[in-house]
Amino acid sequence: MFQRLAHASRSREADDEKEPLWMVVGKTGWIGGKLGDLLTQQRKRWRFMESRLQDREAIARELDEHKPSYVLNAAGVTGRPNVDWCEDNKQETIRANVIGLLTLCDLTNERKIHLSNFATGCIYSYDDAHPIGGKTFTEDDPPNFDGSFYSLTKGLVEKMVRITYTNVLVLRLRMPISDDLNGRNFITKISNYAKVVNIPNSMTILHDLLPIAIKAAERKLTGVYNFTNPGAISHNQILDLYAKYIKPDFKYVNFSEEEQNKILKAKRSNNELNTSKLEKEFPELKDLHVQKSIVGVFERMKVNLAREAEEKAKKSAPASTASSSSSSSSSSSSSSTASTTSTSAPTSSSTPAPAKAAPTTAAPATATAK
Ligand SMILES: NC(=O)c1ccc[n+]([C@@H]2O[C@H](COP(=O)([O-])OP(=O)(O)OC[C@H]3O[C@@H](n4cnc5c(N)ncnc54)[C@H](OP(=O)(O)O)[C@@H]3O)[C@@H](O)[C@H]2O)c1
Repeated sequence: MFQRLAHASRSREADDEKEPLWMVVGKTGWIGGKLGDLLTQQRKRWRFMESRLQDREAIARELDEHKPSYVLNAAGVTGRPNVDWCEDNKQETIRANVIGLLTLCDLTNERKIHLSNFATGCIYSYDDAHPIGGKTFTEDDPPNFDGSFYSLTKGLVEKMVRITYTNVLVLRLRMPISDDLNGRNFITKISNYAKVVNIPNSMTILHDLLPIAIKAAERKLTGVYNFTNPGAISHNQILDLYAKYIKPDFKYVNFSEEEQNKILKAKRSNNELNTSKLEKEFPELKDLHVQKSIVGVFERMKVNLAREAEEKAKKSAPASTASSSSSSSSSSSSSSTASTTSTSAPTSSSTPAPAKAAPTTAAPATATAK
């Protein structure tokens, strides 16, 4: 959906200073990059935060210098190639996701700045009271999943934030989906796994939900919101659509959750979140059931990939001897058209290369990234 724009040069500092300033944390990140693009598209005045999350003085200086009205935090460690990393890097995980986040909450709260935190709904797991297809998890249910260090710390820090900082909006994303084959996209991840589980889950289609995040901040909403499309969709349903729209000869193999657990360091969360609270605030979400909206994702993806392939072909056409012009992306596993696309995060070291960067080989198959 959003074209990757030259957001770094579009901080609009010189523009009308009466316009509220948005500050995005997570400059090199996937979601941070998308938020920057969206703010540019919406012609908002915005800039990235430069400070590291754990550097309290530097963050304070930056907030005092630029005086943002809104801070959007999409920074944190999620692990590379996946959350298993957090099991072996507990201090680093805490430093960013707990200490860093609390520092940001504290400093913005002191200055009465609205903070939106892009958090996770991977703090729940289907249980007897919330079986697949049954009762869903509301914002008030206590977390019941701590099978990974990542999820454990996310659940703990969310509680600290919600009972302490009244300026903070917590948006619980799950298995984010974009209209491209960026390596962070849940579709890309599962299409590269050797084997996948097949479990319905709540998911966040970024095309639908990120504009709602901007509106939510403008409305100065605070508290916790499940931040996914309504409903749930299974891995197989997604992969069937992937085969239909993107790669006709694509095949996948299922395995059970028990088999999956044997090849992973940490367990993965599977759940369906209740979106009533978000739908009440944003009734337009009612039309965006994940089963319906996912079709739009694949339709846009198909167009995006075809356009990229065309652009790539044009670039290499005039001088056939010219070496590959694919500095931005290479074809991915899925088809000759697949690439990281214009919406990828600012392809830094933090953003894995498209498609193939997903954990494919040594630890082949987890169907649920986070
Ligand atoms: N992607 C998912 O599957 C998913 C699912 C649910 C929720 N979320 C939430 O959404 C947020 C963003 O996810 P993402 O996929 O965009 O992650 P990402 O691509 O890994 O980006 C993370 C960003 O955080 C920055 N960062 C990490 N540690 C930092 C620190 N100590 N100080 C300042 N910046 C730091 C990284 O910068 P450097 O590269 O410079 O370290 C990077 O810009 C995460 O916090 C995650 O909890 C993501």
